[in-house]
Order: sequence, then C-alpha cells, then structure tokens
Amino acid sequence: MTVKVKWKVSASIFVLQIYFFGTVFGIFEHRTCSHIPPTEDQVIRGVYLEDEHVIRKRDLDHPLKMLLYYDESVYRLPREKFELINNTILPEAVHFWERALMVKKTANVIRLNRKCVNNQVFFRKGESHVYCKNACEEKTMCGEVQVPESHLDVCRVCNATGQQCAPVTGAVAGAGITNADFVFYISAMETDRCHKGMTVAYAAHCQQESSLDRPIAGHANLCPGTISTKPQELEILLSTVKHEILHALGFSSSLYAFYRDSEGNPLTPRIDNGKPQLNEKLQTRQWSNKVIKTVTRTDWKIHGGNITRTAQMIVLPRVVEEVQRHFGCDSLEGAELEDQGEDGTATTHWEKRVFENEAMTGTHTQNPVYSRITLALMEDTGWYRANYSMAEPLAWGKGLGCDFAKKSCKAWMDSREDLGLSIHPFCNRVKKDPLETECTDDRSSVALCNLVEHSGFLPTKYQNFDHIPHIEPGSEGKYGGSVALADYCPYIQEFSWRAKNVVVRGSHCHFDENNPQVEKNFALESYGEGSRCFDHTGSMWEERTCRQVRLWQHWGSGCYKYNCHGGRINVLVANYTFTCYQKGQQIPIKILADDWLHAGALLCPSCEELCEDELRQNGATCKPPTRPPASYKVQQDELTCGAIQSKSLILLLLASVLAVKLT
Ligand SMILES: *[C@@H]1O[C@H](CO)[C@@H](O)[C@H](O)[C@H]1NC(C)=O
Ligand SMILES: *[C@@H]1O[C@H](CO)[C@@H](O)[C@H](O)[C@H]1NC(C)=O
Ligand SMILES: *[C@@H]1O[C@H](CO)[C@@H](O)[C@H](O)[C@H]1NC(C)=O
Ligand SMILES: *[C@@H]1O[C@H](CO)[C@@H](O)[C@H](O)[C@H]1NC(C)=O
Ligand SMILES: *[C@@H]1O[C@H](CO)[C@@H](O)[C@H](O)[C@H]1NC(C)=O
Ligand SMILES: [Zn+2]
Repeated sequence: MTVKVKWKVSASIFVLQIYFFGTVFGIFEHRTCSHIPPTEDQVIRGVYLEDEHVIRKRDLDHPLKMLLYYDESVYRLPREKFELINNTILPEAVHFWERALMVKKTANVIRLNRKCVNNQVFFRKGESHVYCKNACEEKTMCGEVQVPESHLDVCRVCNATGQQCAPVTGAVAGAGITNADFVFYISAMETDRCHKGMTVAYAAHCQQESSLDRPIAGHANLCPGTISTKPQELEILLSTVKHEILHALGFSSSLYAFYRDSEGNPLTPRIDNGKPQLNEKLQTRQWSNKVIKTVTRTDWKIHGGNITRTAQMIVLPRVVEEVQRHFGCDSLEGAELEDQGEDGTATTHWEKRVFENEAMTGTHTQNPVYSRITLALMEDTGWYRANYSMAEPLAWGKGLGCDFAKKSCKAWMDSREDLGLSIHPFCNRVKKDPLETECTDDRSSVALCNLVEHSGFLPTKYQNFDHIPHIEPGSEGKYGGSVALADYCPYIQEFSWRAKNVVVRGSHCHFDENNPQVEKNFALESYGEGSRCFDHTGSMWEERTCRQVRLWQHWGSGCYKYNCHGGRINVLVANYTFTCYQKGQQIPIKILADDWLHAGALLCPSCEELCEDELRQNGATCKPPTRPPASYKVQQDELTCGAIQSKSLILLLLASVLAVKLT
C-alpha cells in the first residue's frame, strides 16, 4: 500500500505530502554459483597431446586460445538471447581469459578421448594413450553436450585382462581441434540445476591432458529462463559466465590435486596409476597440504565469548604473496576458502567474509572484480602464467591488516569501535523502512547496511553482536547480515528498488537505467558513467511549489556526476556545479527543476578520495583543503509565489505540527 499522507489545509492553497512510497522496497540481490565439481566418472584423463618431456620444456608464453562449440540447444534460444550470448557475453568472457592467461603452446591437434564403458580404463606405463576395457561408449558427453565425432580420437581397447591393446579395427580418428588450447562446449538447456536458486549458468571441465593434467575441455550450460537481456543485468551475466569459465579452467576442488609447481612437478603425490589418491566421500582426488592447509583459530570472537574455528586456506606461493600484500598482513597463512554452502560452493570459492566482491566468491552481491589474487591462483595451478594487467582492483579489506583477515567480524567491529573508528566495511545499522541509504566504500553505488532480522536465532558461531543500537537486548542473536556465506557479517551493499516484486531499478551509480523517473527524482540524482555516490546530510529532502510541499522519506545518499577541475571535487547537481573545498563540507542544495524547488544537502568527500588518480594522470594533485572562500557563492534558487508564499509558510509550520502528532 502506498502511504501518501495529504493534508488539505485551507481551500487547497497548500498541500503537504509525505512520501513513504511504501510499496517500494530495497532488496539485496544474491546469486549463488552452482558450479558442481565434476565427479570421477564425469572426467576423462590422459588425453595425449605430445610427449611430456617436450611439453615441460616449453614456456608459459602462449596466449590461451579457447574454441567454442555450440550444442544445437544454443541455436534454439530466442533470437534476442542468442545474439546477446553469441555476440556479446561469450566473446567478451572468453576474450577476457584469453588475454589474462598464457599456457604452454599446444603444438598438436587436440583429439579428445572417448568415454569407456563403465569407466573402465587401462593406464599402461610407458604408453602414451589410454585404453578402454573391452569397449568405448557410443557417445562421449561433456556436461550436457555430446562431443562431436570430429573432435574424438579413435576408440582404443584392451581385452578384459589388459592385453591385446589396440585401436578398434576400422576405426578412424576425427579431424580434431586445431589452433586451440581448450575447447568449450556450450549448451542452453533448461535443466533441473537451472531451477535451483536463479542459476544463470554453470560450467566444469571434462577432460585433462596426459603430460601436466591441464584441463583441455569443458562445458558450460546457460539457463535460458534466467538469462536476462536487460542492460543493467549485463554486467552480472558477463561476470557470471567469466566466473563459470574459471571453474572449468582450474578453480575447482576437482582439480586442486592436479596442480603443479613452477617446475611442472605434481604438488600432490601420485599413487601407482599416476593419479592422486581418491577421496571416496567427496568422489574427487584428494589434494595435499601444499595446496590447502587447515588453519585453526582459537580466539574467534562471537557474542558471549570466544570459540575455536578452523578454516581451509589455499597456501600456494603466489596466492600467499598476493593476500599478504592485499590485506597488509605478513602472517596471513593463505587465502581462506568458503566453508558454507552446498555441493560446489564450499571449498571451490574464496570466503565471502574475507573477499566480499571478488568475483570468485560463491555468491554475487555487487560490483564483481577479478583481482590479482584469483590470477595468482591460476598461476599457482602450474598450467598458466597470468597477465596481471588484466586484474581489477579489489577495495574490500585492502590494507585493513591481520585483524581483518584473521579475526571474526565481531572482533574487527569491536576493536574499531573501541578506537572510535568507522567499522566499515561492516556496519550495524538495521535495515528498516523508510530506508536510510549510505554509499559503498568505493562510492560506486548507493547502498544499505544489510543487517536484518532473521526468522530465528542464528547458529552461535554466526552471532556477531552483543548489542545493536535501537534493538531490544536479548534478541541480538536474530540479527545478522543477509549474506549467509559472509558468516552473516553485516556490510554495506548495493540493492535494487522493487515494487510488487518487480525490479524497478538498481542502485549502482554507473548505469543510466538506474535513474529515477523525473517526478521521483527528488534529490536530483544523475546515474550513468562517471557518476559516484555522495552522502546526503541534514534531513529529508523537500520538494516544494507555491502550493505544495513533499517530504521524501527514503534518503541518505545519491548518485551524482562530478569532475576534478582545478584540483577540487566539483559536484554536478541538475546543471549546477558545486565545489568541495574540504572533506565534510556541507553543500546546501536549493534548485528549481521541473517546476519544483528541490532542497537538501550533500556532504563533500576528500579530494584525494575521488580525484587523486585522475589528477595524477594529468600531472596534477589535489589542492590542500580549506574553508570555502568568502567569494564562493552556492547557487540557491528561490520560489516566487507572491502573496501566497508567506501564508503557505505559516501553513507549513502548522502541517509539521500535525505530522508530528500523527506519527
Ligand atoms: C555468432 O558470433 C560469431 C562470432 O562473433 C559470428 O561470426 C556469427 O555470425 C554469429 N552468429 C549469428 C547467427 O549471429
Ligand atoms: C595483457 O593485458 C593487457 C591489458 O589488458 C593487454 O593489452 C595485453 O594484450 C595482454 N597481454 C597478452 C599477452 O595477452
Ligand atoms: C586377452 O588376451 C590374451 C592374449 O591374447 C589372452 O590370453 C586372454 O585370454 C584374453 N583375455 C580375455 C578375457 O579375453
Ligand atoms: C577473544 O578473542 C579476541 C580476538 O579475537 C581476543 O582479543 C580476546 O582477548 C579473546 N578473549 C578471551 C577471553 O580469550
Ligand atoms: C540541463 O541542461 C540541459 C541542456 O542545457 C537541459 O536539457 C536539461 O533539461 C537541464 N536539466 C535540468 C535538470 O535543468
Ligand atoms: Zn562458482
């Protein structure tokens, strides 16, 4: 129900409206990855390309080249979706990894192995090819896709006792795949997995070559029903496809045991068939502690005391170097892996609490970035060299030290509070209606603290509060962040405005599509490229004509364009420019636009925060902060209403009193 409070005071001269727009909610979007690491029977190993000693000697200097092969289901997509996938999403996602990763050149044609009946395979010492016991399957699948005959090698079999090994008589090998290091089979089927929690896509590898165990074939299924062609959802779709591709290229618990050091030697010992030990329970090969270590934290602070917690951490050398540098913590053991979530979420993603918007965490929440840490992991597989100029900056946790990277979010929040410092990126403001919005730390988006009341008490290890402002003591245990994978730690998050469960618009400043409708744009925001989030200050925004006043109840921050001319931040609000002379300066806004006088105020960030990089590129710097000079005049529009004005002012006062009484 839309709550519009209207007071008609005295013969329609004056109307005060308070806008709750109660049917519009701020909803946090979560999209959880549904990669499922392939089980033993879904992977074919030992695809022979060249002799091991030849490949080992080669440098990791050849840009990765991927071949895409479409299953016919892709061509059945509605035209708009097909074109989006074929012309934008896949080429961009594939091209990203082709620029970001280099491999040892694949000199030969790739011919994939056929699947053996009952997965019964013979590996023979000194023999380059693998053989099936008795027979090959009719079809060889890679995920949902049948591998075409032209990509397959001949069927090679031994008899039941492992003798008489030879290609099946009369069989011919397919032409194979040339000029590629990896073949990607793409399908677009509405599978059961698509219906689990808004899955957009999932992918995994399906074949590995014999000399270094590098994955050389994989599949991705795009879920037709959840692919959106809306421009503001493009970024999420693209990032999701990039994310899924990376699972197939190496970031998967099904591949950890096959990682190699920089000399090409296995990091996990091999048992006699040349493979690492099978972990029967996980149905995957068990990695050694050179790849992942279990780290115990004895002082894990939660509500009511400390507990002991363990974490699985990637301890590979480049990853360790990168995380230590990122957090500024020399004693950090490695990069923590996700411990929650079903199937493929745990162990195959970075821990959400520690790496929030890194794109290889298990759920998409906002502004995904592929950081140096993920590229370092790809290098540490031993199969790739990374092009670090493709890495995107990760702001989350940067430079926050060991307290942030090694302790619970409660310990972090408490210690910061004790020092009188901001607890960002965590937060403790309960989301309520009307919304009080904030900005994300990088100012890319209007955001809210995702602290919400859950339906019951959270498990003790996720209870992060002893007290929450304005919350009744005793019920703190029900409050936590809305992202379970982040250990329910509450943090500042982007959201989308919804009405009747339909997304009206998002809160990310970058997208034109997120601009509010003109008649709802009370704070004169402007979304689009180059727009950033600025905090509002003072009180609710007010819109006024000579006859009406509207007060807008959702407020707190908004997106505006700005520039850095003259070594200062200049904020643009509806065609006027306002200069920030120092951090914390309040800019009063009174602008006449679309027949309404909009009144509110913005808060200046420091010049360094928004302008330092841009100015440096032009050989300039931020000017030192000062008070605004006396000559500086802020544009202040006025309403000209003649005689009515004074009368309405009195009536406004009257109405305010009424409003106070009624609420
Ligand atoms: C699909 O994309 C490829 C490469 O971008 C292009 O050559 C081809 O024409 C596209 N197919 C269709 C049907 O649009
Ligand atoms: C590395 O990345 C840069 C910047 O994105 C790109 O220009 C360059 O071509 C890449 N290098 C390789 C070898 O792909
Ligand atoms: C496999 O081949 C060997 C050698 O020809 C033969 O002795 C053996 O009986 C065969 N085993 C089966 C089960 O056919
Ligand atoms: C609980 O852990 C925190 C760090 O997480 C530590 O500072 C504190 O001393 C511990 N408290 C007790 C009682 O051990
Ligand atoms: C800003 O200026 C442009 C062109 O000068 C005009 O079209 C637009 O309506 C103006 N916007 C506002 C909010 O005044
Ligand atoms: Zn994933």
